[in-house]
Amino acid sequence: MLNKISKLRSEAETEIIRDQEELEAFRIKYLSKKGLFSVLFEDFRNVPSEQKKEIGRQLNILKQEIQEKYDLLKETLVKQEDTSTINDLTRPSFPFSLGSRHPISIVRKEIIDIFMRIGFIVSEGPEIEDDDHVFTRLNFAPEHPARDMQDTFYISRKSEEDSSPDDILLRTHTSSVQVRVMQKEKPPIRTISPGRVFRNEAISARAHCIFHQVEGLYIDENVSFADLKQTLLFFAREMFGKETKIRLRPSYFPFTEPSAEMDVSCRICGGKGCNVCKYTGWLEVLGCGMVHPNVLDACNIDSKKYTGFAFGMGIERVAMLKYQVNDLRLYFENDIRFLSQFKTSF
Ligand code: PHE
Repeated sequence: MLNKISKLRSEAETEIIRDQEELEAFRIKYLSKKGLFSVLFEDFRNVPSEQKKEIGRQLNILKQEIQEKYDLLKETLVKQEDTSTINDLTRPSFPFSLGSRHPISIVRKEIIDIFMRIGFIVSEGPEIEDDDHVFTRLNFAPEHPARDMQDTFYISRKSEEDSSPDDILLRTHTSSVQVRVMQKEKPPIRTISPGRVFRNEAISARAHCIFHQVEGLYIDENVSFADLKQTLLFFAREMFGKETKIRLRPSYFPFTEPSAEMDVSCRICGGKGCNVCKYTGWLEVLGCGMVHPNVLDACNIDSKKYTGFAFGMGIERVAMLKYQVNDLRLYFENDIRFLSQFKTSF
């Protein structure tokens, strides 16, 4: 019996264990219910009683030795795994910082929320559009100089003689979405269309060839300019604060008549004049007007029965006024040092 004990001892001692898998195999081989130690222990019953004390002691020592070897290996293997992960210096440090919403997304959501509170729904349309939806149905005459007001990225442009396919282009405003809504829906229509738009401009602090708009459209019987003004006043106060004043200056768009541009009172100086508002007390925010009857007719809406108003604003412009970040390019560079300053709860 003593022989068997020392044989098992030297066998267990010489086992080489390199990983968790081998350690588990070791445990099963020696320490489990059907393991070699239990098999040896079975023999203990046959040991003559005068030897039981000594053999029992030897068996206990062996069991302890094997158990200790197992415990020690278990500990060092876990440690080894730990250090291998700690040694990866490229891992981000703890606690991990959370991402944040892009300021354009934050402002976009805020604008949408404000108009949804007064019954507007959101409509979307394609960024790759045709001339018909971006210009023609919005009352831009073929030779009208207004067509040049917006420098357009063309994808395919038909030649003078070619009468078939329409020009394909990147939309220069989301008014094209409103054309699609008018063609499909019957009044009353109350919708806003947020989205990316494209204009062929040199990139600078004040201009970019891609930017974002939210345009709005409201068509029903008896919609008046007073409705437009009140809707925009509501928007301005929700967006820029309860004390905000608005003013409408006459302007021109082919698709609205009359047309206006809306300014809000400067929230930095409260209208007294500062370098943000260039000492005028006012900041330009959006374009608007009553939908031109030609546009309604071109989109199968009876201009004798219905009237409507429309407005459109640049999200970057609103963000600039809100955050006082006046270089447009920062909104497109996605520098984390810039983005992580905008924290929101949604
Ligand atoms: N579509 C105009 C633009 O892109 C904005 C606008 C929309 C103006 C609706 C008036 C009415 O600048």
